[in-house]
Amino acid sequence: MNRSVPFNDMARIIEADRAHVWHHLLQHKSLETVDPRIIVEGKGMRVWDAAGKEHLDAVSGGVWTVNVGYGRESIANAVRDQLVKLNYFAQSAGSIPGSLFAEKLIEKMPGMSRVYYNNSGTEANEKVFKMVRQIAAKRHGGRKHKILYRERDYHGTSITTLSACGQPQRAEQYGPFTPGFVEVPHCLEYRNQFPDAEDYGLAAANAIEEVILREGPDTVGALCLEPITAGGGVIVPPAGYWNRVQEICTKYDVLLHIDEVVCGVGRTGTWFGYQHYGVKPDFVTMAKGVASGYAAIACTVTTEAVFEMFKDDAGDPLNYFRDISTFGGCTAGPAAALENMRIIEDEGLLDNTDAMGGRLMGNLSDLAERHAVIGDVRGKGLFCGAELVSDRVTKEPVDEKQAQAVVADCMAQGVIIGVTNRSLAGFNNTLCLSPALIATPDDIDQITDAIDNALTRVFG
Ligand SMILES: Cc1ncc(COP(=O)(O)O)c(C=O)c1O
Repeated sequence: MNRSVPFNDMARIIEADRAHVWHHLLQHKSLETVDPRIIVEGKGMRVWDAAGKEHLDAVSGGVWTVNVGYGRESIANAVRDQLVKLNYFAQSAGSIPGSLFAEKLIEKMPGMSRVYYNNSGTEANEKVFKMVRQIAAKRHGGRKHKILYRERDYHGTSITTLSACGQPQRAEQYGPFTPGFVEVPHCLEYRNQFPDAEDYGLAAANAIEEVILREGPDTVGALCLEPITAGGGVIVPPAGYWNRVQEICTKYDVLLHIDEVVCGVGRTGTWFGYQHYGVKPDFVTMAKGVASGYAAIACTVTTEAVFEMFKDDAGDPLNYFRDISTFGGCTAGPAAALENMRIIEDEGLLDNTDAMGGRLMGNLSDLAERHAVIGDVRGKGLFCGAELVSDRVTKEPVDEKQAQAVVADCMAQGVIIGVTNRSLAGFNNTLCLSPALIATPDDIDQITDAIDNALTRVFG
């Protein structure tokens, strides 16, 4: 039987979707009057919808995921070959792609050593939280169990990762939350909370030390940070910040967990975001770009020192990481991730990200000269944001409906961009751009031309 759906059956697809699919992050009332958006096909930087309309995708699948672009037959073939050989076995045993990808990944992460496979960014972060709690229980009489997270950062959608959520709108109505999570201040210099400080980077990092001292250093086990905050407004940390963060962690014996779910695997022009700053983490988590969405895979990566803590007392029957992720044993993930990494290396995509990121930042800065509504332009590599304000002096954010109107206008022009969304009340005003790492100069210019037109139409 031919199960493929011919294009002229699209009305049926739309009705089936409307009748039965519960979409992510969507208030469904709107679908009573408009059709759900169905994306049918993708190639390179472009996707086509149910009406056959072409879009240039400037957000890599909506949520900064498809790093190497759509339609990669070599990844599809690698996954297919692996699936017919062995699709799955629980990760309590090893697999050929699992071993090979772990080896290749660790080559890119000097100082790191062990890869724990799972399925989503949320899960990867949750694994770290469990490890930190187990280390506290085993080594610190349960005291050093608190986990610090930063205002504006996001680490996932489960109740415990929402307990570590610096974006209040994401967490609202989902409590009560897991105890033992404590917030530290953000580090967005554009919205400087320490105006009297001579060195903003130092002041923002020292604010973390203050929280540790207030809570008691013997109660704080770990600090969890995004290297560059994504959905909280594309926040590139200020100069000096990361050095001081590292010093503070060392001083108070606080393990450093870097959430690379967005920045990991090339997005900012290095393999990992933290590598711009010379930081030495204890844990690194990653998901979205690891296999560019060709298969579900996430990794929790640790140092050998962390790993050793779970094996050094074999006499204690509980002293190992008693955790499983069923689909962490799917072999499609590491098979796709291996080929994804080969593509990034062979096509020189880190260099391209650096060059095209520079062009994107340059174009956005040019737009800021002509559109007073752009208050700040931030980014690294192909990960950029433009914060929209109604007044450059007071920095009053634009109404989020206006920011969304810019996104809608770009969409009408056939360019998909993003905006911070249900994240911080009153501050969902940063346009987000994360095109695939294969972007060309023409693609970048097409993206910023669309934003230029949209800003003119929405703000005059
Ligand atoms: C920084 C960060 N961490 C974690 C997550 C959660 O990842 P997932 O949606 O795969 O669970 C996200 C998702 O956007 C993210 O941006």
